[in-house]
Amino acid sequence: MGKYDVDQHRVVDVENRILAPTYSKIPVVAIRGRGAKIWDADGREYVDCMSGYGVALVGHCHPKIVEAIVRQAEKLIVCHGSMYNDARAEFIEKLVSIAPRGLDKVFLSNSGAEAIEAALKIARKYTGRKVFISMMGGYHGKTMGALSVTWREDYRRPFEPLIGEVRFAPYGDIDKLRSLATNDVAAVVVEPVQGEAGVKIPPDSYLREVREVCDEKGILLIVDEIQCGLCRTGKMWASQHWGVIPDILCVAKGLASGIPIGATIASKDIMDKLSIGEHTSTFGGNPIACAAGSATIDVLISENLAERASEIGSIFKRMLQDRLSKYRVVREIRGLGLMLAFDLRLPVKDVVLGAAANGLLILYSGRTTVRLLPPLVIGRDEVEYAVSILEKLVAVEEEKLKTRVHPIKE
Ligand SMILES: Cc1ncc(COP(=O)(O)O)c(C=O)c1O
Repeated sequence: MGKYDVDQHRVVDVENRILAPTYSKIPVVAIRGRGAKIWDADGREYVDCMSGYGVALVGHCHPKIVEAIVRQAEKLIVCHGSMYNDARAEFIEKLVSIAPRGLDKVFLSNSGAEAIEAALKIARKYTGRKVFISMMGGYHGKTMGALSVTWREDYRRPFEPLIGEVRFAPYGDIDKLRSLATNDVAAVVVEPVQGEAGVKIPPDSYLREVREVCDEKGILLIVDEIQCGLCRTGKMWASQHWGVIPDILCVAKGLASGIPIGATIASKDIMDKLSIGEHTSTFGGNPIACAAGSATIDVLISENLAERASEIGSIFKRMLQDRLSKYRVVREIRGLGLMLAFDLRLPVKDVVLGAAANGLLILYSGRTTVRLLPPLVIGRDEVEYAVSILEKLVAVEEEKLKTRVHPIKE
């Protein structure tokens, strides 16, 4: 038994035996979290640059979020959308107050994929068209609709047929997008910064040009800010970096700091095309999720977390460049705010597992990319610790590269 009186071997055994085998696991039994740190069953400390896949924006167990959840749990835990609720009303007012201009109606659900499902249905209903355009490298979730607009074939192929015609455009290539944008297209779905693809930032003019193509052809623009939104890139919405306003905005992950939530936000004109019963969810708009959501928005604003993500993100990126770019095994370092990544010329599996063994939690994006999505409250000392561990592990990979006959091609 470790510090927290948890039998971690049993936890691992039970999850491995009983859970569906769909997650590639890091061998850490997480028990407790605060700010940008996690502790395992032995009480070992980890700097968390994973934050539950980008969820713990305001840090783990922020006291204001905990307080809001506890207060709401003592009042009311469930209230179906067919009744009214004070926590929900407060939350949606706050949410539209931070949403891009003109987006003033909300559908609430429980995850990112569900936020996308709603967006796809709304787009078909509003336009009366059936086809979608999505981006190569794009990731939008794994339910049937969200999966249909997700790029990776190995995710899609075993589950076909999906939801009908989806055209994939090379991310960043506006001419190709224009050629695909015929008048049967309901919507273009795009991440302003691609997350799962490895923090891919589009060319500067791209999103504005996508907006123009959509306007010319009467196509709706669905912007997926599920990973890059809510201050992560240094602005409330990543699309603000390029001055683009979507028709439909999808938000989830950190919106309620870890309580499941999804939100699809659109103008009244578009949202009101849905009629009663056409799209509902038992848990959507749950009072605890809404209370946590209100507290999250308050903390994002009161602690200036957009500015903080921008500042500490620049420091983090610069440190990675200073300490890692001298190694030949490192191909590229990218990032916007606290959405960071670097590519290696070798698979990153040993770096990800080695980081965990050294008290650092990181993510991978595909076989050769390390991704860092720390809480926006991460401190400079924690960033320094992360970079020092990464440098140590990258140096080991550098040695492997020297002895390897066939490194991964450029
Ligand atoms: C950009 C983006 N969209 C959608 C999703 C799907 O969200 P969820 O896993 O909550 O269904 C994710 C999840 O990683 C994401 O990063």
